[in-house]
Amino acid sequence: MAVNRVKSGISGLDELIQGGFPEGSSVLVTGSPGTGKTIFGLQFLVEGAKNNEPGIYLTFEETKKKVLDQGEQFGWDLGKLEKEGKLIINSVSDADIGEILKNLSDETKKIKAKRLVIDSLSTLLESARRYTSKLQKEVHKLGKGEHGICLPEPMEKVTREDVFYIIREINKLELTTLMISEAPKEGDYLSRDTISEFVCDGVIELKAIGGIGKRTLTISKLRSTQHNITSLDMGITDKGIAIEAT
Ligand SMILES: Nc1ncnc2c1ncn2[C@@H]1O[C@H](COP(=O)(O)OP(=O)(O)O)[C@@H](O)[C@H]1O
Ligand SMILES: [Mg+2]
Repeated sequence: MAVNRVKSGISGLDELIQGGFPEGSSVLVTGSPGTGKTIFGLQFLVEGAKNNEPGIYLTFEETKKKVLDQGEQFGWDLGKLEKEGKLIINSVSDADIGEILKNLSDETKKIKAKRLVIDSLSTLLESARRYTSKLQKEVHKLGKGEHGICLPEPMEKVTREDVFYIIREINKLELTTLMISEAPKEGDYLSRDTISEFVCDGVIELKAIGGIGKRTLTISKLRSTQHNITSLDMGITDKGIAIEAT
């Protein structure tokens, strides 16, 4: 069966991946800070809006205003896309993971979303962890004294099960999803949680090589797709991200 393709919106990329990302796939976009992950995600959603494929941008990193401002840098009127029902920008701080997933599902139905960007998977997990430990502190206060409620240990770190669960739940929405992930400074793993790269259908690595002022994009994995795994030269201009011909 032929795979339907979803255009990335990144100039020069789609022709290298047989027309785009496989429909419904989840792709991890990983890189250190400043490598262009957020721009990549927004550009993907703007492309969706152009193609009648509404999208949701879920951020744990930036306020809505910052997102709108960042879009403006590249000539994207994200506020207008929201008004037209082609985009939802959702900025979340500490929240329960169940609530986040429920909202995502509601928003997907509301605008008939086809695309989703999670910015980032690392901060989603961090936000969920903070929420849990805050909640536990509250319960602890209530529980002191005669009730003596027995509490579980605060969620200090995210388990493999947490990551599997969250990615699986998100995948159930059947949206073409970019999961942005902060690349660790060292080590062989691509993402901080060291699991998501195995669970996602694709992995794209962004790098900024200081000194020589070079940016690269590497498609390290993309299910159902013939692709090269060499690093591609990439540029960021006032039009967004583009793959540069070599
Ligand atoms: N208008 C622009 N023209 C060229 N490069 C830009 C522009 N705006 C931002 N950048 C580059 O993009 C980087 C920020 O990209 P961003 O997607 O926010 O990174 P990340 O999300 O990976 O931390 C900046 O550090 C800068 O190098
Ligand atoms: Mg970012």
